[in-house]
Amino acid sequence: MRIGVLTSGGDCPGLNAVIRSVVHRAVVDHGDEVIGFHDGWKGLLEGDYRKLDLDSVAGILARGGTMLGSSRVQPASLRDGVERARGHVADLGLDAVIPIGGEGTLKAANLLAQAGLPIVGVPKTIDNDIASTDVTFGFDTAVTVATEALDRLKTTAESHQRVMVVEVMGRHTGWIALHSGMAAGAHAIVVPERPFDIDELTAIVGERFSAGKRFAIVVVAEGAKPRPGSMELEEGGKDIYGHERFVGIGNRLAVELEERLGKEARPVILGHVQRGGTPTAYDRVLATRFGWHAVEAAHRGEFGMLTALRGTDIVMVPLAEAVQTLKTVPAERYAEAQNVL
Ligand code: F6P
Repeated sequence: MRIGVLTSGGDCPGLNAVIRSVVHRAVVDHGDEVIGFHDGWKGLLEGDYRKLDLDSVAGILARGGTMLGSSRVQPASLRDGVERARGHVADLGLDAVIPIGGEGTLKAANLLAQAGLPIVGVPKTIDNDIASTDVTFGFDTAVTVATEALDRLKTTAESHQRVMVVEVMGRHTGWIALHSGMAAGAHAIVVPERPFDIDELTAIVGERFSAGKRFAIVVVAEGAKPRPGSMELEEGGKDIYGHERFVGIGNRLAVELEERLGKEARPVILGHVQRGGTPTAYDRVLATRFGWHAVEAAHRGEFGMLTALRGTDIVMVPLAEAVQTLKTVPAERYAEAQNVL
């Protein structure tokens, strides 16, 4: 068999572990040939690739980022994208293509699969918002990084009697905010799923100081928004890919809380530090299992499918099903954490 692999969209700790796993399972166990496309779908569309053998993936298991590079180019954004992809798959004699990516990548993967290309998808995102899998790799690493940051911020916040407003990633969902906030014992957690009320947030933080505490930690997901009428927030417009641009909710909340409470507040934007660096052991294992199962699915001829974690098992689910909705945090999960607005 000849298999192509690519990583597309925002990077994520564990991508290299999937690539390595695909090569190990395919080359060593099945005697396949594997090629890696450079910079996501762009590599497939331009026929830009390299051969992947055991040597080329040596030492990458623990490395963050992606050895293949990534981009946000999607086949659907080019008029002849699907046909160009089909042409390169045929010219290169590929029996399967394994795209590793998040929401946008999996939508593109589904489009190509519907067009008859032999696609087996692997989900990735630090945001953990892909509906068909219990967990995505990268999430555990992001939560670990954010939790460590929150722990560290507590000591400096206490020294100066400050409010720390820590903005974590999460464009549409609050998984990282919820988990890191719970793990670090944050005093308020603000998530995109629940538009917040600024009076309520001010009251929660204010009550803490009234009770004699010397500091407060607020975790806010970057996509969080105030309830209509609660607080004005400028629109950030769209970025070059048409995604909503964030307005810096962390900065905005720090200013608002400082003015309302008369307490010093500092914003901390964790940003891409959550996505960089070595994956945790959990993410390495999940990524490795996804790679292994993607190769097996390709050998069984199960195309148009996606690897997914269900409980402790890896299963295959239809790509078409996986791209329907995002996995938001269910309401009952908020009840388990304190002060989720
Ligand atoms: O991978 C998803 C994500 O981490 C979002 O939480 C965030 O909004 C986005 O990526 C930012 O990615 P980039 O800056 O690479 O466009």
